[in-house]
Amino acid sequence: MPPLIINSAPPIEVPAGASILEACAAHGILLPSACGGRGFCGRCAVGVVSGDLTAPTPTEENKILAEDLAKGLRLACQARIHGAVELRIDPEVMAVRRHTGKLIGKTFLTPDIAHLRIAVDEKPPFAFRAGQYIQFEGTVAPPPAKPVLRAYSMATDPSDPLHIELMVRHVPNGVCSSWIHEKLQPGQPIAFRGPFGTFHLSGTQAPMVGIAGSSGMAPLRAIFHDMLKKGIQRPAKFFFGARTRQDLFLLDEWAEFEKQAPWFEFIPVLSHEPPDSPWTGERGMVTDAVARRLPDLTGQEAYLCGSPGMIDAAMAILTARGMPADHVFYDKFSV
Ligand SMILES: Cc1cc2nc3c(=O)[nH]c(=O)nc-3n(C[C@H](O)[C@H](O)[C@H](O)COP(=O)(O)OP(=O)(O)OC[C@H]3O[C@@H](n4cnc5c(N)ncnc54)[C@H](O)[C@@H]3O)c2cc1C
Ligand code: FES
Repeated sequence: MPPLIINSAPPIEVPAGASILEACAAHGILLPSACGGRGFCGRCAVGVVSGDLTAPTPTEENKILAEDLAKGLRLACQARIHGAVELRIDPEVMAVRRHTGKLIGKTFLTPDIAHLRIAVDEKPPFAFRAGQYIQFEGTVAPPPAKPVLRAYSMATDPSDPLHIELMVRHVPNGVCSSWIHEKLQPGQPIAFRGPFGTFHLSGTQAPMVGIAGSSGMAPLRAIFHDMLKKGIQRPAKFFFGARTRQDLFLLDEWAEFEKQAPWFEFIPVLSHEPPDSPWTGERGMVTDAVARRLPDLTGQEAYLCGSPGMIDAAMAILTARGMPADHVFYDKFSV
């Protein structure tokens, strides 16, 4: 069994041929992953100090820049261990644990977004930062089949980490989201790993532009509620894109939030609302509304969450209006 050294700790023995992801998981080290090890998400990248590993796969060459591959960055789910390997892993990731709990509520915010409320067991203690996500274990097939792992962002702030909420959009034919929508019922046990992710509020006082669509509301809801609880007041506009009025949700909650947080404005934007409907709010793509309302974004920061297409479109508009790219923070909900 080849030795694996992590952050200069004493070596652990791992089976030859295992991926770095599998070898670490077998020793309770849960690396980030949004695609369950399928090589799509790129989130399992780890720094290899030295090691006898399989050569980079085409999947790795697609996800990791050639210069980073040359410096030893590898996809943990793709690189397989042949001989002795030494890794560098972020201490925050080393602290990630598997958690259990129970589904205590399931409602539908729209026909395709389920709102889950989970009671998390006290041990091991779970703590997270607003904006982070978990790897949810979908028990799509009965045990002993392996659970499918999918990333879902906490939709609640961290003041009560023993009760978390998730917003899960149904992806047609999607393995985990279909199981959550169709099969998962209140009372069922839940397991997840986490927390993961670097999407969170910066420490500046810069005015904020939030942009999200669909279940992308989840981490922004966590961030704004966290700000309110902590008394952080920064001018903030949250643009929320949806197709029609039927796709909007939590409008009463955001109206109440605006009353408590005079620094905050919620701006729903509808892209496919019929022209003759009574809707008097913003219309068009969410990014068009940002462009119309905010001609100068110098000195501001943006927090984006949703599909890669929406994030790319938003990035182009924000930077064209004077926001430096490194003031734009985002989480792409994609594999
Ligand atoms: C950091 C992060 C946080 C996330 N947070 C959330 C969240 O809070 N709420 C939420 O609903 N989702 C979130 N996602 C997406 C989620 O992890 C899954 O990708 C999604 O639920 C689909 O999983 P599935 O098993 O149902 O589909 P799969 O069986 O994995 O995929 C089925 C098909 O759908 C395509 N597909 C997969 N994911 C998507 C997608 N998101 N949109 C469109 N097509 C897709 C696949 O390419 C495939 O063709 C997040 C993703 C990331 C990376
Ligand atoms: S877990 Fe390796 S790319 Fe997603």
